[in-house]
Amino acid sequence: MLRVVVLVSGGGTNLQAIIDGVRDGRVTGTEIVGVISNNPGVKSLDRAEAAGIFHTCISPKAFPERADFHRALLEQIDALSPDLIVLAGFLVRIPEELIERYDGRIINIHPSLIPSFCGVGYYGLKVHEKALERGVRITGATVHFVNAGMDEGPIIAQKAVAVEEDDTPEILQKRVMEQAEWILLPQAIDDIANGRLSIEGGKVRRKG
Ligand code: GRF
Repeated sequence: MLRVVVLVSGGGTNLQAIIDGVRDGRVTGTEIVGVISNNPGVKSLDRAEAAGIFHTCISPKAFPERADFHRALLEQIDALSPDLIVLAGFLVRIPEELIERYDGRIINIHPSLIPSFCGVGYYGLKVHEKALERGVRITGATVHFVNAGMDEGPIIAQKAVAVEEDDTPEILQKRVMEQAEWILLPQAIDDIANGRLSIEGGKVRRKG
């Protein structure tokens, strides 16, 4: 059983897609053993509560130093003994030590076709604002392994989404979530849980 810890910051629609996938049997061999938010009182935590999943908030604001926050986050993650850590709208830069300790076992969902519209400053609605500003006709989402860079890890899967006339950032964000993110992330977890996907030597390996 793949033990999964999900790191969140806000609404948690990607978390919900994973919860629903496990519940509906589209994601097998997987147990979400914990949800950790850096923000208190967000809908992600309500979603975990409703699903009976352990959840907690570890906020950087609660610590005098960043290193103290990193230590608390690592301790909580280690205590859950995850096989996989999923960043589902987690808007805090994760500590190097976490990436080293869980090398090859952290994945992230990003709401664009990396390498477009990614990197420092590209998160949430901002990504879609920039896509509309540039006038791209196709955007989408990417799920990738996490390395020390920002949105630079090996790509697992991508899904294209059409940009429509008169799209606002909010409308485009919703379409990318519905047509790409909420499909890609559960699928990647199911592939990892069932041995169809791994990372070896920094390269994504697919089997079967
Ligand atoms: C999503 O667009 C995700 O791609 C990005 O942040 C947003 C989080 O949304 N990383 P939610 O919290 O999963 O609803």
